[in-house]
Amino acid sequence: MNTIENNDKYIFNTYARIQKTFVKGKGSTLFDDKGNAYLDFVAGIAVCSLGHCHPAVTRAICDQAKELIHVSNLYYTVPQTELASMLVKKSFADKVFFTNSGAEANEAAIKLVKRYFQEKNEKQRFKIITMKKSFHGRTMATLSATGQEKIKNGFFPLVDGFIHVPFNDINVLKQKIDSSICAVMLEPIQGEGGVIPAESDYLKKVRQLCDKNGIFLIFDEVQTGMGRCGRLFAHEIYNVKPDIMTLAKALGNGLPLGAMLATYEASKGFALGSHATTFGGSPVVTKAGIEVLKIISDISFLEKCREKGEYFKKQLNLLKNKHSIIKQVRGQGLLIGMEMKQNVSNLVLKCMEKGFIINLIQDKIIRFAPALIIKKQEIDMLIKVLDDLLGDFELEQIQ
Ligand SMILES: Cc1ncc(COP(=O)(O)O)c(C=O)c1O
Repeated sequence: MNTIENNDKYIFNTYARIQKTFVKGKGSTLFDDKGNAYLDFVAGIAVCSLGHCHPAVTRAICDQAKELIHVSNLYYTVPQTELASMLVKKSFADKVFFTNSGAEANEAAIKLVKRYFQEKNEKQRFKIITMKKSFHGRTMATLSATGQEKIKNGFFPLVDGFIHVPFNDINVLKQKIDSSICAVMLEPIQGEGGVIPAESDYLKKVRQLCDKNGIFLIFDEVQTGMGRCGRLFAHEIYNVKPDIMTLAKALGNGLPLGAMLATYEASKGFALGSHATTFGGSPVVTKAGIEVLKIISDISFLEKCREKGEYFKKQLNLLKNKHSIIKQVRGQGLLIGMEMKQNVSNLVLKCMEKGFIINLIQDKIIRFAPALIIKKQEIDMLIKVLDDLLGDFELEQIQ
């Protein structure tokens, strides 16, 4: 059976796929159906942060699958309870709601803040301020929250009540907050928008504005959380705590697991029956999540992530000094963006031919999000290939 042909024939054509079928993964390496190996600097877009098929996670999945795969959320399970208590102990939060994806975690957060104020009889307070260039998911509410037109086009009418302001501009945010606003929602480092970090004191000022106006601060850490940015959660870099945080992606290291975490006060927005999901937080995925959280939350593991992130950025900046096509290198930990001066979609395919997987966003920005277990030598290998390819690219431009 020809996988690519049949995939294109039978599956909705919504993904711009690269012509490659992967059949196996181990650590930072993926193998295609021809037996070729590739060093993976995408990791399922910041999902497989412990690398592909991490033995502790795979063991946990297999062991749990032999015991209990699913019961309804009408009942209690041990792994779900354990993961929730670990998340609470390691964060600002008091309560957790498990979901199957990042979009669903954000849906839950959006519903929570709206209902909180509706229950307080402040029915006019239902609007949420989000950021331009943000990305919060593909469901109707989360795409309406998203600050990118290309994600919304074709899906009108959108869900009402989202106001978009420029990221890192505290004055515009201040002007927009009135008695109709119930929350501000943002990614501490915008991922899909182009790896754009919050400026140093911006989040602190946003926190102050939210406190002053009695509204909630939601951090979408679906991409930035779980060690990706060198701390367990990216907001720790800024020393600012949210009222609500969403996680997904790396939480299950590839299994569909998301979570919405909230302070006790914010959690009052939901009561019996106000929100539910069939699969959210089922035993196998939460068992995997426990292993992931144990490993990633280790202080020395996180320290190594930061070290490797700094090393990676330094090497990319050395490339920038050499190749004028590179405009800027930015990011935190192992979420790094390299903005180019022109469209470089060819570079992704050329890297693939050389056995390296990289990812392009917004046409001109290469996003690196390797497994957090990536080795310095593996970073060096990619740098060498990028150096050669960018040299070729510049030569082609001259000729
Ligand atoms: C910051 C952020 N929020 C939400 C989402 C949506 O997550 P999911 O694709 O799991 O629904 C993403 C996915 O890329 C994301 O990066």
